[in-house]
Amino acid sequence: MERREKLYEGKAKIIYATDDPDKNILYFKDDATAFNGAKKGSIQDKGVINNRVSAKLFQMLAEKGIESHFIEQLSDREMLAKKVDIVLVEVVIRNYIAGSLSKRMGRSEGEKLSRAIVEYYYKDDALNDPMINRDHVLVFNLATAEQIDVVRETALKVNQVLSDYLFERDILLVDFKLEFGVYHGRMLLADEICPDTCRLWDRHTLEKLDKDRFRHELGNVEEAYLEICRRVCGEL
Ligand code: TMP
Ligand code: ASP
Repeated sequence: MERREKLYEGKAKIIYATDDPDKNILYFKDDATAFNGAKKGSIQDKGVINNRVSAKLFQMLAEKGIESHFIEQLSDREMLAKKVDIVLVEVVIRNYIAGSLSKRMGRSEGEKLSRAIVEYYYKDDALNDPMINRDHVLVFNLATAEQIDVVRETALKVNQVLSDYLFERDILLVDFKLEFGVYHGRMLLADEICPDTCRLWDRHTLEKLDKDRFRHELGNVEEAYLEICRRVCGEL
């Protein structure tokens, strides 16, 4: 598959066109940002790991009947994906209290929620991705009622399948962010699923094995990403 012109450069990935109008190539960078770009840095080989972990998880989800934009891994840092129109709603699913939920509710990190919480954020960097609800989604035409219902249902199904898969690998899925896109009228899971977009804690020690190590300067960032890659994909 030929890589053609650059369509878009985001904080962690570059999207390229291909010779097929229905397919894009995603290039995974090592660049890391946090707090809406206020903190900038890079994590060695993060792009390689996030590509590999995302590919593995999208394949696993496809086997469980959850379709995504993923087609195939092309190289260390490149993924071939269906060209979707990204829905401007980021979906966060939470199983344990952490991060912004801990701040918002004044509760300490690590408490298990009685059931999963689904949150929506308006995907707009200039506005710092504000939290919104289903009414905002509908009134501002970010998605139709039918679409957002499919998004919510799919996100909860991903949560179940992914939580089980990771738990078997001694990882707690604390919370994570998903993005969706429309492909020829179908709502597909899109973007990436990796230690940048998930909070992943060791099941026994509760050690953080995700981007929080970068966000909060906890050290051993590369080691944590490698450990997740080992557990999710097997030996490197
Ligand atoms: P939060 O606790 O900061 O709201 O984050 C919830 C989850 O969403 C966490 O797993 C990290 C992920 N996330 C992203 O992938 N991108 C973002 O821009 C933000 C704010 C969170
Ligand atoms: N807010 C994202 C994060 O902390 C990154 C960013 O927006 O710069 O994961």
